[in-house]
Amino acid sequence: AVVGDAVSAAADGLAGLQQAAASCTLCPLHCAATQTVFGEGPERAEIMIVGEQPGDQEDLAGRPFVGPAGKVFDTVAAEVGLDRSRTYVTNAVKHFKYEPRGKRRIHQKPNQGEVQACRFWLSQEIQLVQPKLIVAMGATAYYALTDGRERLEDVRGRPLPIEGGRILFVTVHPSYLLRIPDEARKADELARYRQDLARVGQMA
Ligand code: URA
Repeated sequence: AVVGDAVSAAADGLAGLQQAAASCTLCPLHCAATQTVFGEGPERAEIMIVGEQPGDQEDLAGRPFVGPAGKVFDTVAAEVGLDRSRTYVTNAVKHFKYEPRGKRRIHQKPNQGEVQACRFWLSQEIQLVQPKLIVAMGATAYYALTDGRERLEDVRGRPLPIEGGRILFVTVHPSYLLRIPDEARKADELARYRQDLARVGQMA
């Protein structure tokens, strides 16, 4: 039913697609998650930003990149003049995957099957938004968009032509930056991420 719903919903644009995705059961992640966290942004944004999956706060809020990783993205994007409200922000996987630990919910990486199942939604978002430039933040997004298995460092920071005449640009995921314990290294990596997003702003 999900597939049938989505096919007819796509005719209603992103809002219809989002509505269909709200009852998605294409993989088991919907069982434990609070809700589907769909992408958001203008219907015809030139830039699409793709993350991995919603985190704890996104799962509760129902919006992508509103938690700690989202704050890093927002801050750096603002610093380099990349206006988030003009981009379409989404995730490779649209349900939060976690392991309960006491009162906390610990993020778990989505597996290949989950990423593949959720491509059903990501590819339709791309068809509707028709972005010129897609930014993959992290390896999961890169894999979801290309099937590519290259190391992130080998594809990072330069425009890559992909199908549909679009450009793919790969950078790290902002939560990677939050996990770097060493302050000096963190500052360096943050500077590289800033450089990447500045590049994105210039390309659009
Ligand atoms: N990390 C992601 O990849 N996406 C979000 O929406 C939040 C955190």
